[in-house]
Order: sequence, then C-alpha cells, then structure tokens
Amino acid sequence: MYTHTDLARLQAQSLKMQGWIRQQTYSPENEKKLRRFSSWEVGELIFKVNQSTLRGRLAADPSLPQGLVEEDGRQRWYTLEEINAIRRRLKVNRQSLMPYRPQNTRAIRAAIANFKGGAGKSTVALHFAHAAALDGYRVLVVDFDPQATLSHSMGLTDVAEEYTVWGIMARDLIRETERMNAAATGAESGAALPRRKLPAAITDMGLGDLRVTDFIKPTCWPTIDIVPSCANAAFVEFASAQYRHLNPEWSFFAAVSRYLDAIPADAYDLILFDCPPAIGYQSMNAVFAADVLYIPSGPGYWEYDSTTSFIGQLAEALEDLSRFSNLVPAGTLKLPKAFRDVRFLLTRYEPGNDLHRAMRQAFIKVFEDRMTEHPIEMTRAVEQSGRFLSSIYETDYREMTRETWRRARASFDRAYEEFRGHLTVAWKAMEAEK
Ligand SMILES: Nc1ncnc2c1ncn2[C@@H]1O[C@H](COP(=O)(O)OP(=O)(O)OP(=O)(O)O)[C@@H](O)[C@H]1O
Ligand SMILES: [Mg+2]
Repeated sequence: MYTHTDLARLQAQSLKMQGWIRQQTYSPENEKKLRRFSSWEVGELIFKVNQSTLRGRLAADPSLPQGLVEEDGRQRWYTLEEINAIRRRLKVNRQSLMPYRPQNTRAIRAAIANFKGGAGKSTVALHFAHAAALDGYRVLVVDFDPQATLSHSMGLTDVAEEYTVWGIMARDLIRETERMNAAATGAESGAALPRRKLPAAITDMGLGDLRVTDFIKPTCWPTIDIVPSCANAAFVEFASAQYRHLNPEWSFFAAVSRYLDAIPADAYDLILFDCPPAIGYQSMNAVFAADVLYIPSGPGYWEYDSTTSFIGQLAEALEDLSRFSNLVPAGTLKLPKAFRDVRFLLTRYEPGNDLHRAMRQAFIKVFEDRMTEHPIEMTRAVEQSGRFLSSIYETDYREMTRETWRRARASFDRAYEEFRGHLTVAWKAMEAEK
C-alpha cells in the first residue's frame, strides 16, 4: 500500500538527484541563443524589400549596422538588434519599416486557448511571438501552463514558482484584500462590509511587496520578455480554490488583468498568453485579460469535438462571473467579459489529406467567418526540434532542405499575417474608444 508519505519520500529522493540529473543533461554552452539572420532573410522575409535595394542602401550608409560576413559566402548576417536599428533609421520608397502601432494605446493582448491537450497552443504562441518580434514588435509572453512548454522553448529552465502566474495571483489576493479592508474601514457608519484576514502563510511570503517588473524575465530574443511558468506552479489550481474561500469577494479571474494594467502602456506592443489544456483559475485569468481569443485545433474529428465542448464550458464559466459585477471599484473591470475578436485556427493541417480537407470544410461550415483562412500546416521542421523546442524562425535554413524550411515558414507567416490583421482591427477599435 502506498500513501502520501511514500509519494513524499519519492519526491525527496528525486529532489536530491535533481541537480545532478540537470547537470548530466544540461551544459551552459547549451544555453539558448538567438542566431543571426542573412541579408536574404532581412530583405525578402523581414522587411519585404528587394534584397539588392537593401544591400545598396546599407552600403551607401556605413553608419548603419553592417552585420557579419560568415565564412561560407558573401551574405551578411545580422542580429535582431541590428535589424531593429536598421528598421528605425531606414525608409524604403519613403515608407517607414516600422510596424503599425496606435499611439497612446496599451499593448494588445491575445490568448491562445483550448482545453484540448496537444492542440498546438504552445507552438502557435511561440511562432506568433517570434514572427511579431521579427516584424519589429516588442512582445511579452505569459506562460499560464505549469507544463512550461513555452518557458522552456524560450530558454528559461530555472524558474521559482513565486515569479509565475501563481505569484501574480497570490500578490493580487493580498493587495485586493487590503484594498477591500480599507474600503470597509472607510465606509460611512461602519456599514456591514466584511473584513477579511489572510493567514500569515500567505501574507508572510512577501509577494504583496513584489514589483510588477519582478515577474518579467528577458529571453534570448532582445525584444521578447516572458512571465515564465514552472512545474511547481501547478499548485496554483489547488491554492486558488483555497484563496477564494479566504476571500469570496476576490475577483480571482482578474488578477493577471490587473497586473498587466500596471505595466506602462508603451512598454510592449503585443502580449501573448499560452494557456494550459484545462479550464481553471489560470486559464480563466488568461482569457479574462485577453482582447482577442485565438482557439487552435487539430484537424481531426475528436479535436473538433473537444473544441466544441471547450467553447461551451468557457461560455458557462464566463457567464458565472457576472456575480462579481458590484464587487470591484467602478471602471476597473467590465462584465460580462467581451472579446474584441474570437477566431479558430486549424493546426497540424495536411493539405493533401482528404480527412483534413473534409474537417476543414466542416469547421468552416460551423464556425463560418470566425474560422481563420490560413491553417498552420503539419511540418517536419517543427517536429524535428532539439533540446529546446525551436520555432522555424529560430532554425537556420541551412540546417534542413531549403524547401522544407521555406514551406514551414510560409505557413506560419500566412497564419501570423492573418493574426496581425485581426489584431490591427481590434487595436484600432481600442484606440478609437480612448
Ligand atoms: N504545425 C505542426 N507541425 C508538426 N508538429 C506540430 C505542429 N504543431 C504542433 N506540433 C507538435 O504537436 C505537439 C503538441 O503541440 P503543442 O505543444 O504546441 O500543443 P499544446 O496545445 O500546447 O499542448 P498542451 O495542451 O500539452 O499544452 C508537439 O509535439 C508539437 O511539436
Ligand atoms: Mg502547450
């Protein structure tokens, strides 16, 4: 017979060995680094200008970054910092190379969510983050999933659970409870507003004093930051249930939204959420903070089936939040939650597969104009990644056949461009309402 004591003993044993095992499988030179991009990529794929025009312009102005010539040829290779410096300074045909960004508006937020496991959420989040960074945007990704796929893919391996979404939620509980208690004290004639006391186990962790920036870590991409996750943050689901009990008026689902509201409006352009394969406290926080909801799904019947139940359960969960309407100061959050856009995206799609084509038609019939036009194709370029999951953008095209690389990149590019189009519409509407 085995009880929790046996499990605890096994865990203690594993923790003792953890450092050693990590050392065996990890070496510092294995740290994730961002590669340089060739002048072909910079011209045709990143700036979308003729390669020789770009070469000419760079040659004409030696004060612009000149990249490095690699041994194997005449091409110059540029870091993303150099690409961004060129982007800021160069105009081609009197057109700026800077991407669209409305003035005085905060970053647009998109959640990639579906409770179907393996739907392609993390792959989509990783590729959209990288594509947006190459497009000149400053990106923050928030990993809501304790499987931490996105954190690992972004090169983060040593994350303490205080600095994850779990920490953000506990910090919010402390701060919101303080605010509510202060409001109760300030209320005229000592109205019957309850005062809540949180146990020292929560208040003594010091999370209430953490600053917004404490949760944000840099990645090997100079313009991508991350609020990472880690396996220990799985505890959030369990802890949150207890937290709600400690303060039933706490709008638990708005913790991350409030946190993000405290980031200066101009610090980022795009904030992307990778969600866990479940509806729970973490995914409700992601969905609630999102302006745009992107729902990836594989092209099989069962995936269609679970995507259908996902939207049903999400609808119910969002409807349930209405009781919080009067519990927060006016103007801080709007209920019912309204997305500026909701889209379905097929992933792992094989254009030559009859079943996939039939399922795609079925998805279009059901979800109509909510269905994105460009599915993400199944590609060996993504399957074949090494120790860190790498995006097609990170992979040097010389590492595989050029055709495989181009095809994969074209598929992610089309899906990203469509995503950017939808974000732009939502962003403009946000700006117009200001
Ligand atoms: N376009 C693609 N081509 C080939 N393989 C893919 C593609 N998209 C995803 N995969 C593979 O499918 C698996 C699941 O993808 P991913 O981790 O992105 O799904 P997920 O929805 O985030 O999963 P989870 O629910 O566990 O978080 C991974 O092994 C990934 O490499
Ligand atoms: Mg995932």
